[in-house]
Parts: sequence; C-alpha cells; structure tokens
Amino acid sequence: MTNPVNIGIVGCGNISSIYLKNCTRFPSLRVLACADLVLERAQAQATAFGVPKAYSVDELMADPAIELVLNLTIPAVHGEIGLAALQAGKHVYNEKPLAIERESARQMLELAESRGLRVGCAPDTFMGGGLQTCRKLIDQGLIGRPVAAQAFMQSRGPESWHPSPDFFYQPGAGPMFDMGPYYLTTLTMLLGPVRRVTGSAQISHPQRVIGSQPLQGTIITVNTPTHIAGVLDFQSGAVGTIVTSFDVHPGKIKGIEVFGTEGTMILPDPNAFGGPVIVYRPGELDWQEQPIEHTHVENSRGIGVADMADAIRNGQPHRANGELAFHVLDIMHAIHDASREGRHIELQSTMERPAALPTGWSALEAHAA
Ligand SMILES: NC(=O)c1ccc[n+]([C@@H]2O[C@H](COP(=O)([O-])OP(=O)(O)OC[C@H]3O[C@@H](n4cnc5c(N)ncnc54)[C@H](O)[C@@H]3O)[C@@H](O)[C@H]2O)c1
Repeated sequence: MTNPVNIGIVGCGNISSIYLKNCTRFPSLRVLACADLVLERAQAQATAFGVPKAYSVDELMADPAIELVLNLTIPAVHGEIGLAALQAGKHVYNEKPLAIERESARQMLELAESRGLRVGCAPDTFMGGGLQTCRKLIDQGLIGRPVAAQAFMQSRGPESWHPSPDFFYQPGAGPMFDMGPYYLTTLTMLLGPVRRVTGSAQISHPQRVIGSQPLQGTIITVNTPTHIAGVLDFQSGAVGTIVTSFDVHPGKIKGIEVFGTEGTMILPDPNAFGGPVIVYRPGELDWQEQPIEHTHVENSRGIGVADMADAIRNGQPHRANGELAFHVLDIMHAIHDASREGRHIELQSTMERPAALPTGWSALEAHAA
C-alpha cells in the first residue's frame, strides 16, 4: 500500500511539462494542484496532465491538503516562493539554483529545520543511470583514488536561439549560476565537499545582440560575469577545475572528467540522465564504455521529488537535499568572490554525499512504508 505525498506545483512554464509528465506517474507523489502568476498557464497544465486544481499561488499555499510545494518558478523568486511554502507548513523542492543569494537559501534551511520540514532542490540528474553508474564505479575503486577532476561548459551564449535571453546576463544567472549546479552537484556527489575555492571571472563581451525572434537585433547589457574559471580544493584532497562560459566558441574539451590513481573516467552530460560512461585504465588497449545497470536513463526530472517523498514517509534522508544545494550555491558565489577579492575563499558550508542508489531502483515503483 502506498501513501503518496500530496504536492502542488508553482510555476507552469517551460520545464513544468516534463515534471508533470513524470510526477503524475510516480506512486510516491500525488499532484493535487498547479499554480502560476499567470493563472491561464496553471489551468492549461492542470488540464493537460489531469491535475485536479488550478490555483493562484496564495490559494495553493493555503490548501491544507498540499504537503510539498514543487517550485518551478524563475531563479529570482526561488527564495521567496520557497520561504512562503515553508511558512505555510509545507516541504519545498526548488528548481536550481536553491536561491540567488546565500542569505535567502540559508533562511530556507533554518526555517525548515525549526519547523521539522524538508528542503529539496534540483538537479536530480545525478540520480540518473549514467551518473549513478559513475558513482558506483568510483566507490568500487575502478579508477583508484580520485586526485583531480575537470568540468567544462562553454558556449557563445543562448541569445542566438532563446526567445527572451536577457535574464541569462543579469545577476543570479550567467553560465555559472545557470549551468554550474549540474556540474558542481555531480562533482560533490562523487568527490564530497569542497574546502576552499579560487577563481577568475570576467565579462568578455559587455553587450550582446539578440539573434532570435521576436527580439532580433535588441542589445543586451551584460551585468554578470560570463566567463568563469574556478579551482576547487575538495576536502578529500582532490583538486578540481571548472570553467563555465557564454563567451567562447566550442572547444574540444567539454563535460566532466575524473582522474584517479588507477585510471580516468569520462562522465556523461550532467544535464541528462543517461550515459555513456567511459573509462581508461593503464594496461588496457583502449577506452572502455561501461555497462549502465541503473534505471532512469531517460529524462526523469522529478525523481529527486519522488525520493524526497519516500524519505518523508520513511524518515530517511533524501538525496537531492537543501544542504547539498546550499553547498553548491556557496561554491558558485565563492568563485565570484575570490575573483573580485583576489584570494582563496574558505567555504563555510559543507555537505554529506547523498547515499548511492541501489541498482534497479526506480521512482516508478513504490518504496514508502
Ligand atoms: N527550461 C529548461 O530547459 C530548464 C531546464 C532545467 C531547469 N530549469 C529551471 O527551471 C526553472 C524554470 O525554468 P523555465 O524554463 O520553466 O522558466 P519559464 O520562464 O518558462 O517558467 C517559469 C514560470 O514561473 C512563473 N512565475 C514566475 N514568477 C512567479 C511567481 N512569483 N509566482 C508564481 N509563478 C511565477 C512564470 O509565470 C512562468 O510560467 C528555472 O529555475 C530554470 O533554471 C529550466
């Protein structure tokens, strides 16, 4: 017998369809309501996915049946909506980043703690089959002790294709806050917490010209760094490098690689759920693609919410949790701070590696007691 957690979704834009598709199928969850600043969007998504209610945000927060708010709004209001949900006595799971500023993210964690509520946060791609395979193989020692890692996300920016790209160039976005959570969540899930960081951040192109319709030709003034190179000293002793950029044309190096004493692992795209996972070990003839035995290799956005719901019912820790997301946010800010201040920054936050998922775990099956 399952005892699903009743959830309400706030923010019915682009990303909400995949969450609705998945969350309405997971036995741990019952999607009771959709809400949006634009009520028609909430109504349209409720109708499309068979969700019983379409609400204003206030109505959703006031509904006592809703136990968990899935916050899919824009980053600028992640903190505000997250805090409102907690104040209404509900658990909250935010899309990434947890919040724009450390302060509102910290307030969320403190409020949740004081009320016995939980905070969860995307990305949950690290729970997918590809990255869980990496986790299993690294924990088993296939590449020995990890000594270094590198992560590269580089492009010339989204204004050639995105219909309203201005926000990517404002504080709280830029390539680090927009894409960094995928890369840093993956690195910390594999290697553990980061002790200190340093970095350099710059704006290479102070103005951008929109190439896409309907705003083609409009100038964007860039107000946040768009090329950020960070150095991460992990508590384990491993040293990481991360480059996120909207300023450069593609290079040949992209994605994440982890270097161990006994080999090297090329990870799959951390913004996706599947493989491939490729390993080089000295003595073997070539790079070897590793079998993926874990489930969820397709777009499974929402499995972090399902895991959180199981954990609420079973009294266990959930994997895509607020402590991890706060550490990632802290790292992203600290790299920018280090660049401004010209020094290393010792991090005040830390995290524990979320438990690995057993092979065969699927959010499509019930796990709650
Ligand atoms: N689009 C993607 O491919 C993608 C992928 C992964 C993660 N994300 C993340 O998901 C989140 C949402 O992205 P999106 O692409 O769906 O954005 P979007 O702009 O398409 O949708 C956001 C929705 O939130 C609503 N909203 C804004 N402020 C609100 C408020 N105060 N109260 C209620 N509703 C409010 C808007 O009306 C809109 O419908 C972001 O954090 C983004 O980083 C997006």
